Amino acid sequence: MTIEEPRDAATDERDDAITARATLFVGATQVVTCEGPARARRGGEMADAGIRRGVSVAVAGGRIAAVGDQSVLERTYPGAEVVECGGRVLAPGWVDSHTHAIFGRPRADEQELRAAGVDYLEIARRGGGIHASVRDLRERSDDALHALALGRLRRLAAYGTTTVEIKSGYGLTVEDELRTLAVIRRLAATLPMRLVPTWLGAHEIPLEARATPAARNRYVQMLVHEMLPRVAAGGLARFADVFCEPGVFTLDETRTILTAARAAGLLLKLHADELAPGGGAELAASLGATSADHLGAVTAAGIAALAGSGTVATLLPGTMLFLGRRTQAPARELIEAGAAIALATDFNPGTSPTPNLPLVLTLGVSQLRLSVAEAVIAATVNGAAALGLAEAIGQIAPGFSADLALYDVEDVRELPYWYGDRRCVGSWVRGKPCSQFDLAIT
Ligand code: NIG
Ligand code: FE
Repeated sequence: MTIEEPRDAATDERDDAITARATLFVGATQVVTCEGPARARRGGEMADAGIRRGVSVAVAGGRIAAVGDQSVLERTYPGAEVVECGGRVLAPGWVDSHTHAIFGRPRADEQELRAAGVDYLEIARRGGGIHASVRDLRERSDDALHALALGRLRRLAAYGTTTVEIKSGYGLTVEDELRTLAVIRRLAATLPMRLVPTWLGAHEIPLEARATPAARNRYVQMLVHEMLPRVAAGGLARFADVFCEPGVFTLDETRTILTAARAAGLLLKLHADELAPGGGAELAASLGATSADHLGAVTAAGIAALAGSGTVATLLPGTMLFLGRRTQAPARELIEAGAAIALATDFNPGTSPTPNLPLVLTLGVSQLRLSVAEAVIAATVNGAAALGLAEAIGQIAPGFSADLALYDVEDVRELPYWYGDRRCVGSWVRGKPCSQFDLAIT
């Protein structure tokens, strides 16, 4: 099972089997609870990360049981295992709600091309970019893809990430997209992390479908009538996503694909207004998408549409940094308009090959001008909301899954401060160890 539904009986049973004993996390300088409503935080609600000092956290049955005084929790949970946090900071595991983590070779060559003045979409027009990763993925076995992704996802975990959304989108044939999603399912059974699969058959018009408008249209029709039904029937994805961008999928094509996906029972995401404004944010809001992602070139109308909708604005500042863009998404305008913002890595071989979510927090503060609390909420509660999981993960509060990370810092503000450094010393998913370094567990 890749997705945990909130407070579901089967999950409770399994969690009880996993964790017979309770666990107490004691001795943290700060517990960053993010406690509050179990939904996206918007506007001014993002300003409070619920930081508490002098408290311990009890975990039982894979969930947070209580947050409070150590001696009280010790009496309530006699015989509990104790994790000594040693004056460090305990926080919810990061929810990385936007990645393209299934790919073959790195595309380091394109970085130099961009430095020499060839831009991202021009590289794609020359058959590189996403097309290069598509050629590569089609030649690799499922086992090879699984092995590559396994190592890469462990790197994400090492920075404190406990939930990762992963998109397909480097296959672009029925067979290659389905096997990408099957690899994600297999990874979810292998890794302790929580993985959320997204179907992105509309990541790019493949080279073989670009010769004529009719060929292009046949690809879109194939997505809707052939690929999507197979994805839905196999229960292989929670979300459908489209790269809606001038030069990639048009607004009309995006609407066609996502309307069909919604009818097939999938939740929706869009790559919207990434590099040029195209009405993607407005379309996301009107379709009731769970999130609109990128938004580097969103217009005032797009900001207003998102603020007036339930769609989370997922910002990916690492992508703009890595592409050498001088602009960033208008995070402050979005928050001031009352929108909900999430932060994610966009981990992918072309535009953001970083596994480091705390680095994205740094960019959130230094480039998007978020407060530390806003950046933390964006990568926990609002990341969860961008996956439709805000009732299950993202908070250290009773009833939430015990997805935790411990950092070798004394104050949460040091997480974006020591930029690029890896301060995570341990993480847990459903109360079970996920990534562990130098912890003292008694
Ligand atoms: O989110 N924008 C489209 N997709 C990715 C890039 C994928 C690639 O270049 O391989 C993104 O930036
Ligand atoms: Fe992306």
